[in-house]
Amino acid sequence: MKANPRILLIIGGGIAAYKSCELVRLIRKNGGHVTCVLTEGGSHFVTAMTLAALSENPVHTTLWDLKNEVEMGHIQLSRQADLVVVCPATADLMAKMAAGIADSLATTLLLATDKPVLAAPAMNVRMWQHAATQRNVATLRASGVTVLDPDEGAMACGEFGPGRLPEPEAIWSAIKAALGDARPAPGPLTGRHALVTAGPTHEPIDPVRYIANRSSGKQGFAIAGALAALGARVTLVAGPVNLPTPAAVTRIDVETAREMAAAVEAALPADVAVMVAAVADWRVADAAGQKLKKDGSGQVPPLLLTENPDILATLCRVANRPPLVVGFAAETEKVIEHAQAKLARKGADWIVANDVSGDVMGGALNAVHIVTAAGVDSLPEMPKDAVATALAQRIADALAR
Ligand code: C5P
Repeated sequence: MKANPRILLIIGGGIAAYKSCELVRLIRKNGGHVTCVLTEGGSHFVTAMTLAALSENPVHTTLWDLKNEVEMGHIQLSRQADLVVVCPATADLMAKMAAGIADSLATTLLLATDKPVLAAPAMNVRMWQHAATQRNVATLRASGVTVLDPDEGAMACGEFGPGRLPEPEAIWSAIKAALGDARPAPGPLTGRHALVTAGPTHEPIDPVRYIANRSSGKQGFAIAGALAALGARVTLVAGPVNLPTPAAVTRIDVETAREMAAAVEAALPADVAVMVAAVADWRVADAAGQKLKKDGSGQVPPLLLTENPDILATLCRVANRPPLVVGFAAETEKVIEHAQAKLARKGADWIVANDVSGDVMGGALNAVHIVTAAGVDSLPEMPKDAVATALAQRIADALAR
């Protein structure tokens, strides 16, 4: 992370706004600069005076400030930060961000910025769980905004559940991670953009049940980290996994295959795409809006499945197809034969085939065969990190040609 990052902090209107004061203090204490934008709602919870004193900077509150507009336009305000942080991100602010509404200084800055955006949500548990909010969060994540998960616990409104603002220390850690993202160390892949998918997808049956698979995401995360270590700017589109983001990698969290497909499309153009995710082939055609209930009759609900988009095959056909597209093939038999067939069927340049008949899924070791039109390059069994390093090096060599 850069020594003195500049943070544009947008404070939404919720009781958690008081914690943004603590966040300003933490950023300052760690050498960062903070410029605060206080929304009208936020101003009912904290004052511009408090934020100005803590940030040691003027606080911006309105689009219609002629003096400020002449001295520094709002577009400029949105661009001179290293990172835009929305804290607390209310349901209303996130809805406006997802929809692209610009009806205040805060929302205008969020639409005008070309910098990474991190949102720390805080709201009533029902508001957080509402389908509209969840849709908005998914949209924001798919378009590259880092939306933190709220904490769970007792809330100011007396209810209990997810919706509490993460603690300021946790938000500061996320800020550091987000700032680290943009700056991979120089290497043979410097100036290249690598797109990686990893993990499983979850396909909802109803609001509490889903179809999933045993992918841990370890191999894909290791590849994202190895590409970043060679200097690439890496976008990692991750299904639901329990893994830390590798250093200097920009992570976009998604749940379903369709969200993953949208995030991949939004991340283009890329110089190389490595599709490691174990995308669910099928989803439930008509996921229920409410939890399916046993009614005691012994009848089971019929689950009609429909096919998910094939992200890899689609990527190989789009107009801005990455020059190098690498797919994975998890096979339990005839590993190389199936990989060769997949290479042709999907239109990928390389297929990395692995035998998952043992305990590869979730395990630490992997033995892969890199299948290309030119032949098969079989690597011995080794830790997933070593597989990742070997593959990243081959990618760097291929792009250098
Ligand atoms: O067809 P199969 O699932 O075996 O192909 C595996 C490869 O295709 C992997 O690279 C995986 O990430 C990708 N894939 C995809 N979208 C799907 C299914 C698989 O991108 N819907």
